Amino acid sequence: MSSDNFYITTPIFYVNDVPHIGHAYTSIACDVLARFMRLSGKNVKFLTGTDEHGQKVEKSAEKVNIAPQEFADKTSARFHKMMKDLNISNDDFIRTTEERHKQSLSAFWNKLKDSGNIYLGEYDGWYSIRDEAYYSESELTEDGLAPTGAPVEWVEEPSYFFALSKWQDKLLEYYEQNPEFIWPKSRRNEVISFVKGGLIDLSISRTSFKWGVPVPSNPEHIIYVWLDALTNYIAALGYPNEQQDFTKFWPASAHVVGKDILRFHAVYWPAFLMAVGLDLPKSIVAHGWWTNEGEKISKSVGNVIDPFALVKEFGLDQTRYFLMREINFGNDGNFSRQNLIMRNNSELANKIGNLLQRTSAFVYKYCDRQVPNIEPIYINVIYETPLFKEITAIIENNMLQMQAFNINKVIENILHITELANIYIDAEAPWALRKTDPDKMQKVLYSLLETLRYIAIMLQPFTPDAASNMLDQLNVPENQRTFINMNKEYALQPGATIREPKPIFPRLD
Ligand code: MSP
Repeated sequence: MSSDNFYITTPIFYVNDVPHIGHAYTSIACDVLARFMRLSGKNVKFLTGTDEHGQKVEKSAEKVNIAPQEFADKTSARFHKMMKDLNISNDDFIRTTEERHKQSLSAFWNKLKDSGNIYLGEYDGWYSIRDEAYYSESELTEDGLAPTGAPVEWVEEPSYFFALSKWQDKLLEYYEQNPEFIWPKSRRNEVISFVKGGLIDLSISRTSFKWGVPVPSNPEHIIYVWLDALTNYIAALGYPNEQQDFTKFWPASAHVVGKDILRFHAVYWPAFLMAVGLDLPKSIVAHGWWTNEGEKISKSVGNVIDPFALVKEFGLDQTRYFLMREINFGNDGNFSRQNLIMRNNSELANKIGNLLQRTSAFVYKYCDRQVPNIEPIYINVIYETPLFKEITAIIENNMLQMQAFNINKVIENILHITELANIYIDAEAPWALRKTDPDKMQKVLYSLLETLRYIAIMLQPFTPDAASNMLDQLNVPENQRTFINMNKEYALQPGATIREPKPIFPRLD
């Protein structure tokens, strides 16, 4: 894949459950990365979707007496709607019950088999339906639960195995040679010690239920739901056809996942790919988990956070902003209504919104609704001021931060520019200059509007609606809103009209 292309994926979501804040979080983080990369000129493919097979989904459907396909259709549609409602810019939405996926999976299975990595045996051991994962006796807690707290059951049945143990050294070698493969570092170390602890062969088929894709040569067996699910990332590129999208976008730039499913992505998936001779994704990015007002989120506690309700109550951009701003990507974080309101008011409303409002309202009133009509030559001078030097440095830093998945650092950078601009407006006091030095007032206001143009362009990945609203108010042409346009050449046209200022970030109570 050329470096002009960028392929990013969310995990595909189990359809046994309705969308919650965890799903929203992963999706928004990927969306921010995807939008950022598009704005920086990359050709992006952004994939999301739903994981519809397996015992967990089959059981959930049984409980409500609905056929699994119909059940999956219903919940998948809710995830689809979540993407729309959260303004997620995914280019594709894959469902594992789609024909394209099933065909791809069968082909992938056959390749694994042809490579000599699959054999038939018998699985005797523990399985957790909730986690859709196998556990060894030694991993169980004293109460006989999975390390995740999920119940387990004893399984004894014929099963196909993937020769995972064979790949242990190759995996360790790969982690060693590709230090950027697993992000963040702390999680990388966890994965390495897990693999060093010894890998045993992985059961990759089951015979005790029906809801899934049958093993091509032996339809009594249903393919293990994780092998099924992971294949979505190449199925969406047309695999086994290794042309077109596949050449363009494989290997993926980043699989973004929660920390709970890192092992599947950083151990099993690379081993499968090595076995069939495909390239490995460039990075597996593991984010943390949200708690709700300090408590673990769980259905039994009844404190699950509904993303649709968040958007309704606080607004879309406000919700997106908070989730990206509140925690260092990679760490766990706590959802607190008070913090959401506080960040909205002190950062979006008081810093960014206020800078726009006080600048453009003043311009609208005292500069004849026009971008201050300064001598174009003066734009060069503005670009040499400390404020613009800082902006230029930040643009470079944003790229580095985003490439390193430090999403919230980019927000901090944008806030930093806003703070500098707020200090500048207070220091220069255009309202006083209006009487003493109108010429200087025009220059100060021009600098501020130009700074706002940068802020709005940079905000687009995070708060797309508000940012485009800001750019509309500044009358920035639609085709001049990417990162390429963040330079002097595209500076606001002196004398161009601006639109009537309207608040973009209302305060929340
Ligand atoms: N279907 C699998 C993924 C297969 S990918 C090939 C799955 N689905 S899931 O719906 O259970 O979870 C999807 C994502 O939501 C996971 O990355 C998980 O980490 C994330 N989250 C679930 N609860 C979460 C929080 N409370 N906080 C943050 N993310 C959480 O796993």
